Amino acid sequence: MEPGERHAVNEPGRWSLRHRADSAGEEPASVSRIGPGDWAALRDVRLAALRDSPDTFASTLERELALAEQDWRQRAESAAWFVARQDSDLAGLVAVFPVPESSPPTKWHLISMWVAPRMRGRGVAALLVDAAAGHVAAAGAQRLTLWVADGNDRAIAFYLRAGFLPTGQRQTYRRADSSEFDEEELVLELAELARGI
Ligand SMILES: CC(C)(COP(=O)(O)OP(=O)(O)OC[C@H]1O[C@@H](n2cnc3c(N)ncnc32)[C@H](O)[C@@H]1OP(=O)(O)O)[C@@H](O)C(=O)NCCC(=O)NCCS
Repeated sequence: MEPGERHAVNEPGRWSLRHRADSAGEEPASVSRIGPGDWAALRDVRLAALRDSPDTFASTLERELALAEQDWRQRAESAAWFVARQDSDLAGLVAVFPVPESSPPTKWHLISMWVAPRMRGRGVAALLVDAAAGHVAAAGAQRLTLWVADGNDRAIAFYLRAGFLPTGQRQTYRRADSSEFDEEELVLELAELARGI
């Protein structure tokens, strides 16, 4: 998906998960890829995520409030970012980037996954992962990995339903403020999905 392209909850892509029907009478959410020109939308949704879930992410609200336009533009270029919107409201975010361990990279990594509380349980998370995994598959990669913190049971349940599996890798992440959390790595095997396994 190129920056600016959209697809909606009712138009599942190739990596379609089980989307739930949206509430009657409301516009369905849609996901679009955003680029550096959309840096303000990236900033707004990312700051909303950090405000809502301060213990979930490796970064902090304080650190990201201090970023300048140029920093957000660079961040937008550093990965493929996808935002979910419902009507004109920003409703979710995810990013994927290639892990440079092989050339071309066969492994990508997923970060910054977030859905606005009022939109949870409504298929938006699946739509975001659909868009991200579709982008990774189109790039020819075979594996999409992520780290999820112990105790984030809702996120773990979502990822497992989406087809991610534990790799057995674990790590302790230490933030700049010295707080720590343990996390485990999950992987989505795109080659197996493509074969219908
Ligand atoms: C993680 C997140 C993106 C998932 O989106 P979502 O819309 O909540 O996901 P869904 O509702 O589709 O799926 C969540 C699943 O967890 C289940 N669940 C809900 N609360 C739960 C809990 N406390 N413990 C275990 N499972 C739970 C739901 O029933 C659902 O499972 P089901 O589809 O089998 O019924 C969203 O909750 C979020 O933004 N959380 C805060 C930020 C975050 O944790 N990001 C992930 C960082 S790795």
